Amino acid sequence: MTFGGQWVDLGALPIDRGGGILLRRAAAAAQPGERVEVRGSDPSLAVHLRAWARREGHRWEEPPMTAQAALAFVRGDAADARRAGSTLAGYPDPRHPGAVAERAAAAWGIAPRGAEVEAGAPPHTVALMEKCECWADDLPALLRHALASQWNPQEAIPWDQSHSGSEEVESALVQILTYLIENETAALLISARFAAQVHPHFREAMQLLALQSAEEARHIEVFTQRATMRHSRLGSSTAGGQASLRTLLEEPRFPESSLLLSVLGEGTFVDLLRFLQEHAPDTCTATIMRLAAQDESRHVAFGMAHLSRMLAIDPSRLPLLELAMERRHAALRDTAGLNEEVFESLVVLAGGGLAPADIARGFDSVAHLMKQMHAGRRRRLETLGFDPTRADALAGLHTRNFM
Ligand SMILES: [Fe+2]
Ligand SMILES: [Fe+2]
Repeated sequence: MTFGGQWVDLGALPIDRGGGILLRRAAAAAQPGERVEVRGSDPSLAVHLRAWARREGHRWEEPPMTAQAALAFVRGDAADARRAGSTLAGYPDPRHPGAVAERAAAAWGIAPRGAEVEAGAPPHTVALMEKCECWADDLPALLRHALASQWNPQEAIPWDQSHSGSEEVESALVQILTYLIENETAALLISARFAAQVHPHFREAMQLLALQSAEEARHIEVFTQRATMRHSRLGSSTAGGQASLRTLLEEPRFPESSLLLSVLGEGTFVDLLRFLQEHAPDTCTATIMRLAAQDESRHVAFGMAHLSRMLAIDPSRLPLLELAMERRHAALRDTAGLNEEVFESLVVLAGGGLAPADIARGFDSVAHLMKQMHAGRRRRLETLGFDPTRADALAGLHTRNFM
């Protein structure tokens, strides 16, 4: 069962039981028009070789009428028809120059990057076919970091250390958690939607978005578990809060969504989660907030890296991003934004109770948090290229719902 350029020895191996694999390799090693001799002891070799050669696009050579005559086929011009017109979908390793194409071809279908794609595969056309629209320079590193940072809620969170707060504080926490769950739901739906809209050629972007949506799923789970430890019902979901999230859900473009959700929304959310970690009534809650904030920081990092790259390539996109922020602000002008219950709950949680002195302390803490959130948004917008005055104004247009 060996083969050279012009001959192949199948031994006793029948063509329909693996011999075809060796024949195909021998054909591939030959030039079009070249004769390939086939040796073998299977009694049906001649019959099967004739059918195989016809099927593969080679010319069957009628053997002379002598008993010891060798069987052979002549490699056809159109042989390897499956490969004719096939294209190489880049290289698997993104560090290889040119590995990641500027534009993915629909004809590559969902072929892995680096594969040779047979012509005629079903096309795959999605919204994100351009590298510029979804890529980030350090994306493979961001993905590796995200993959290495997954945590198991049952092991990572000390669930038994969750009963130390007063009833007022527990109720405030449940209201805040309700609000967090709703925001996480929007983030899950958005990242899952865009994961399905990225062409698989840009696989790291697709994977990272899918992973982000899994992380939001985990956040929803741990927030819900904590909220229902002592209460059988969640807090309230308001029309204003939902209206704010609706504008995020309805943003059709990834870069704009990346700005509104990741850079501004999740960026603000990180400040909120750190605030909640600091003011958590118990170790269980503090751990949940710390772990969620770590994940959210990665979501912000992807948004920043993606937009920084896009703007470096095409600075004319900056005014379009500005428009997206203004459009969202206009759409939310008549809504209440952050619901009163959430604001009051943050004050009660940070103050640690309902005594006037507690409320005064909590109020100051929340006012400080708001300033911190605004400064963070302004800083990130400046990093993206907005001048300081404009960045400050745009940071102020962000939804009062935080995300
Ligand atoms: Fe999240
Ligand atoms: Fe997130």
